[in-house]
This record gives sequence, structure tokens and C-alpha cells, in this order.
Amino acid sequence: MAAATLVTGIGELTTNDDELGRMRDAAVVVEGELITWVGSAADAPAADAAVDVAGRAVLPGWVDSHTHLVFAGDRTGEFEARMAGAPYAAGGIASTVEATRAASDAALAANLDRLADEALRGGTTALEVKTGYGLTVDDEVRSARIARSRADAVTFLGAHLVPDGWEADAYVDLVAGAMLAAAAPLVDAVDVFCESGAFDGPQSRRVLEAARDRGLALRVHGNQLGPGPGVRLAVELGALSVDHVAFLDDEELALLADSWSGGRGTVATVLPACDLSTRMPLAPARRLLDAGAVVAIASNCNPGTSYTTSMAFCVATAVLQMGLTVEEAVRAATLGGAAAIDRDAPRTDRTGRALPPLGRIRPGARADLQALDAPSIAHLAYRPGVPLVHAVWRAGEQVVGPRDRAVRAGS
Ligand code: NIG
Repeated sequence: MAAATLVTGIGELTTNDDELGRMRDAAVVVEGELITWVGSAADAPAADAAVDVAGRAVLPGWVDSHTHLVFAGDRTGEFEARMAGAPYAAGGIASTVEATRAASDAALAANLDRLADEALRGGTTALEVKTGYGLTVDDEVRSARIARSRADAVTFLGAHLVPDGWEADAYVDLVAGAMLAAAAPLVDAVDVFCESGAFDGPQSRRVLEAARDRGLALRVHGNQLGPGPGVRLAVELGALSVDHVAFLDDEELALLADSWSGGRGTVATVLPACDLSTRMPLAPARRLLDAGAVVAIASNCNPGTSYTTSMAFCVATAVLQMGLTVEEAVRAATLGGAAAIDRDAPRTDRTGRALPPLGRIRPGARADLQALDAPSIAHLAYRPGVPLVHAVWRAGEQVVGPRDRAVRAGS
């Protein structure tokens, strides 16, 4: 039996659980990788050890459901030019593809570790990681293999850009054929950049249908740089998420909301740091929630459009500039992200191993928690830009923060 640790002295506990809600003076018991008890600190059971967080706010770890962390190089020059007025063009992806292909496996893995560790220190306890900077069969397969070392969900994004030297439809044949076949055993989902300058509707559909035929989950980068077919395609094909969604009409808002009427639908993932870094309009997260859509907030960490791992920054932006309440933004960056990677409920992986749900603090969920140096989640937006993470537990293990307060309890 795993030792039980009592996390107590929680001033405010955000559970994302409909019955438990947001609690005061709470405690949580962690055993192995799971949460086994949640309740009032006064009723807490005895445990093998206890950690007193001294009145701090505790919430689920961030679930960052959209990242591109397997890459080499950076694009500082492109960023500076953009801040001086140059528009974002998807073509910048090609320079990262060149750097990524030239990098060793060890260099790519080290860069992924650097960013995943940075994210963890910022409270991110679950990551989706995409391929998409390889764009050959071998480079995409190695990206997927490297991503697997740190990701809770790996997504194949061979359809990120038509690489130099290729005609678009011939490249789509490769992606939907040999490249997908090679990547499929290593990934959970397949994504397409459905945008002018990348892949049009029919090309995106071919890749997504080929992925669906293999039983893989689907995602779409859609409606990022302008109106387009991405949202409609994602909903029609039952994608887990459609990401970016900066340009939406009322019909698309309704489609995203209605997609949940018969069970699991398509999550609308907004990427606030990307919208800011590309100087594009902020995605209409308020309208999405008002329409009844399920919203996730993610970092989109990549070297081109959003070079940050900070989910706290994204949450603060969603509150201060996109019109979400703090509670809505926190939910979107935790439970919303879990829904976007299909981990908001218990699942099994391909080997039959049980995967506990993410994004909630309740018995049975993976013990992914963060304690803030603040009495309330409100401080995430009230004190924007301030690093508030005090301690982080991932799968029951304390990975960030002081451990000197752990004491034997109940003995
Ligand atoms: O999500 N939109 C497409 N892909 C990335 C951008 C990648 C890049 O510019 O390198 C994104 O923003």
C-alpha cells in the first residue's frame, strides 16, 4: 500500500468538482499517484505524513493541451520584426523545420526537457506535445518518440506546412499515407493546420479522415489567421479540439456548443499568448462560454508564435483581456485542457493500463496539485506576472517547493 500524505491548511481549494466546488479550510489526501480523500481540514483522516500549506490556495495543476515542444533553434529575429510591424506568416515554420532536422535526438530531447521542466515549475502537470517540425517520415517519427518521453498526449502534426520542394497534394498523400502509418503507433491524435498558407479544407479532411480510419483522435488548428473551414470540419469529424479559434461567426459558436449536446463534443481551445505574440485579435473566449461551448486555455508554446510555457500568464490574459472570470479561466486551463486531451474521465491506454482523470481535485483523480503563494486563485489575475507557484505535486510526487514541512502525522 502506498503511503498516504495529507496536504492540509488549504485556505481555498478549487476542485472543479460540481459537488465539492471551491472550498475553504480544506485538506486533501494523496496516496500513490491518486487523490483518495478531499474534505474539510477539521475532518481530515490520519496519514503517514502531512504537509501544511499554511492557508495558501490549492488548485489542480495546469493541463496544457496545445504545445509544440519538439524543436531546435529560436526565432527572435522574426519576433522582433513582428513587433516592428511585420505580419505573422506561417512560413516562419520552415526555419524551425530546418533547425529541427539538423539537430541531434539528444539536443531535441534536452530542449524538450528544459521546457517541460520550466512548465512544471510554473504549475503545469500535464502536457500535450505535437510533432510538426520534422515533416519527413523519419523526422516526424523521431519527434513523436521524443515527445512521448514527457507528454501525457502526443499529437502527430505532419500537416503543419507544405515543406519546400513539395507540391501540396503530393505532400498530403505522404502525410495521410506513409507518414501517418509510421507515426500512428506512437501518437494519440492527429492534427492539421487548416489555414490559408498551410492546408485547405479538402486537404485537411483527407488527413483527418485517414487518421480517423486508424482509430486516432483528431485535432484541428483552425480559424487562427482568418475565417476558414477548420471549425466546421473539426465538429463534423468529431475532433477532440479545434485550437486558435480567433475568427468565429455565430454559426460556428453554435456548432461548437451544440457538439456537446449528444455527449462528448469538440473543445474550443484558445491560445491567448499566441494571439498577443502574433498581434492578432484575441479569441472570443467570452462569447464561446456564453454560447455554451467547452473552452480550454493552452500555452501553444513554440518558437514562432508563442514562446512561453506560462499557463498563469495565459490565465491572467484570459481574465484581464478576454473577459473570463478567474474561476472560468482556471477551469479552462485545467479541466478544459483535460477534456481537450480526453483525460477528463478515467481512460485506459493502448496496453490496457488505467489512466486516472486529470483536471479535478477529487477522489480517484491523478494527484496533480499546485499551491500558490496567495490566499486565492483570484491572485492569478489580481497580481499578473508575479510567479505565485509555491509547490507542485505531479502524480502524487512533490516536484516543486519546500519539503521541510513534511511531518509524520497520526502516529
Ligand atoms: O499553433 N499555427 C500553426 N502552428 C503554430 C505556429 C508554429 C510556428 O510558427 O512555428 C501555432 O501557432
